[in-house]
Amino acid sequence: MRIDRKSLSNAIARANLAPSVHNTQPTRWRIDGNGIITLMLDSNRILSIGDPEGRDARLSLGAALEGTRLALSEIGVEIRHMEAAGNQKCDQFQPVLHLDCKPNNNVEPLQYSKYVDERFTWRGGFLPASSELKHGLVEVTEKADSLTVIDDVDDITWFADINDNASLSFFRDKAYRNELISWMRFSSKDSRWASDGLSTRALGMTRAEAIGANFVLRSPAFEILDGMGLAKAIVSENKKTRTASAIALFHRPVEEDPIESGVAYYQYLLALAAAGFSTWPMAVLADAEGPRVEISKKFGLPSTHRLLNVLRIGLAPLTAEKNRARLSAGTLMV
Ligand SMILES: Cc1cc2nc3c(=O)[nH]c(=O)nc-3n(C[C@H](O)[C@H](O)[C@H](O)COP(=O)(O)O)c2cc1C
Repeated sequence: MRIDRKSLSNAIARANLAPSVHNTQPTRWRIDGNGIITLMLDSNRILSIGDPEGRDARLSLGAALEGTRLALSEIGVEIRHMEAAGNQKCDQFQPVLHLDCKPNNNVEPLQYSKYVDERFTWRGGFLPASSELKHGLVEVTEKADSLTVIDDVDDITWFADINDNASLSFFRDKAYRNELISWMRFSSKDSRWASDGLSTRALGMTRAEAIGANFVLRSPAFEILDGMGLAKAIVSENKKTRTASAIALFHRPVEEDPIESGVAYYQYLLALAAAGFSTWPMAVLADAEGPRVEISKKFGLPSTHRLLNVLRIGLAPLTAEKNRARLSAGTLMV
């Protein structure tokens, strides 16, 4: 029995609801007639400044792989076997994994598939969580050996401060800032507003703030404002960070392929969504060596693990909009 192409295309659109760095959505899917789905990396969507080794792109592909597994389970398709694609010569699209798929009437939707729609990155202030919800958070994180959770108020304040410092040093790097700006969508008139990147709405900005950001983040305004001592206030997330119920350190074995880390990352985000929590990463704290080493030491992470991300965890308001811009299935299937 063949897999119906329309269902597959819907499944791929759902798989791509997985998180990705800067919402670059670097994963592409190629389907051949024998039930083989190949996951590919679009090299045009790897951040050459922010992610020169392609670690975040591979981690994002890992999340999309987990998304694929969940979405296929919803249409009764099992992945029988998975194989690395090896080092093939390629242009824009680099084959990464072959999935051998087959329809199977016994396949049921996987546990977390129903939270795929609910999960999203919330970049506003969090609401206080009840002790019952916090108990749910403990239940998720106790089972998670790659998450170290910190809920001490003084520690959360410390993270708010070091996040602002680390962000400022990244923003001072003009090439990094320009790359980020190229993925920011400042106006709904931008044709890519609903398809990829970081819309100012998803970043939690009002329209006036978006207009301001489009000016102050660019050169020479940023450098001038920095010279006046105002840049830190511009990039600060301090007040919002302090409202988080907890901070989670996501750390994985040093030698692990980031694809595997990405699978685990998405599973954790969905488990947290199932417990009612939203997350908001502070990736700069894992990307910059200074904070990464300091955090790993302060919170006793195993020396065999590398800190890959730091998450703010909390309760998003019920009125929070998801604002998830995504590429069409037609673009994702190559
Ligand atoms: C490796 C990785 C790093 C990320 N780092 C950040 C970050 O530092 N700050 C942030 O606001 N979002 C970060 N994100 C979240 C993405 O921007 C987000 O997943 C993407 O915009 C899609 O939106 P959604 O999660 O709401 O579906 C990161 C995501 C990944 C996979």
